[in-house]
Amino acid sequence: MGNKEKAKERREKRLQEIRLLRTIPYSDHQRWWSNKTVAVVTGGNRGIGFEICRQFAAHGLTVILTSRDASAGVEAVKVLKEDGGDLIFHQLDIVDSSSINQFVKWLQENYDGLDILINNAGVNFNLGSDNSVENASKVIETNYYGTKSMTEAMIPLLKPSTAGGRIINISSRLGRLNGRRNRISIVALREKLSDEESLSEELIDRTLSTFLQQVEDGSWTSAGWPQNYTDYSLSKLAVNAYTRLMARKLSERQEGQRICINCYCPGWVKTALTGYAGNNTVEEGADTGVWLAFLCDQSITGKFFAERREINF
Ligand SMILES: NC(=O)c1ccc[n+]([C@@H]2O[C@H](COP(=O)([O-])OP(=O)(O)OC[C@H]3O[C@@H](n4cnc5c(N)ncnc54)[C@H](OP(=O)(O)O)[C@@H]3O)[C@@H](O)[C@H]2O)c1
Repeated sequence: MGNKEKAKERREKRLQEIRLLRTIPYSDHQRWWSNKTVAVVTGGNRGIGFEICRQFAAHGLTVILTSRDASAGVEAVKVLKEDGGDLIFHQLDIVDSSSINQFVKWLQENYDGLDILINNAGVNFNLGSDNSVENASKVIETNYYGTKSMTEAMIPLLKPSTAGGRIINISSRLGRLNGRRNRISIVALREKLSDEESLSEELIDRTLSTFLQQVEDGSWTSAGWPQNYTDYSLSKLAVNAYTRLMARKLSERQEGQRICINCYCPGWVKTALTGYAGNNTVEEGADTGVWLAFLCDQSITGKFFAERREINF
């Protein structure tokens, strides 16, 4: 059996284990949440975000399903409500500051804030073996800057609690800094992005603007960026780096004001984003996000997960 087959077998075994784990109900001792716990999900009208909303509602949370297209969001809530649950729609486009501001105001006035933020909204324009950077600025604007804007807007609204606020960023293994395949081959940049001391928002932003500048002048192909889905991979690399950075900043908060921030890769999931290719169902793609949101251990922050296990950045 080749390495690829072995990896596939390992993944399938792990997914089977998780399917079993999902059938075990949370005990009262694990269940820190209630129907007063407010979870906000971006891009909740379809795909993994929709499924996270469904699973949260089934666990009894108050779920704010957001979507940039109001009619798609209203329809999604209508469908989910057929199974019961407390779901509310609000319009939210993560790259539109006035949409974010209106959402902040509404959330504060109606729910006094939130407990869980799922930064799920994202775009990808590469399919199969394509590696077009035609939409690079949109990909980076949405996946990284949109996630960052939402995180910044929601942090002041995360309610103080003993359980702590939670932010979960949906990322991708394609954005791994030190993965064997598809990593940045510029060693000095990789080292700077890996190092706690040199990692900064400025470094992340500068890395992305250098790439976008090279897309403009056509020099990006030979500049040492990831080989596959280059724009998407870099956007997720930035999300991962930002997650580590924010975890460090947020760790200074006092007991009762704590916020954990983690990211995860949902695997290759059958959604519109992959042209419905992929190995995983949306249930499987949503699973690690929901599991992370429900973790009791507040010391888990600034980490990267896949299939309910920590993986390397
Ligand atoms: N599918 C995979 O294999 C895979 C793998 C790794 C990571 N991910 C990540 O998982 C997340 C969810 O993707 P998915 O697979 O569920 O894809 P999807 O079905 O295409 O869903 C993406 C969602 O993001 C929304 N969105 C895009 N731009 C937005 C914006 N500016 N403001 C608000 N919402 C916006 C979309 O809204 P519209 O319906 O209006 O377009 C849609 O609801 C993404 O972050 C993606 O990068 C997916």
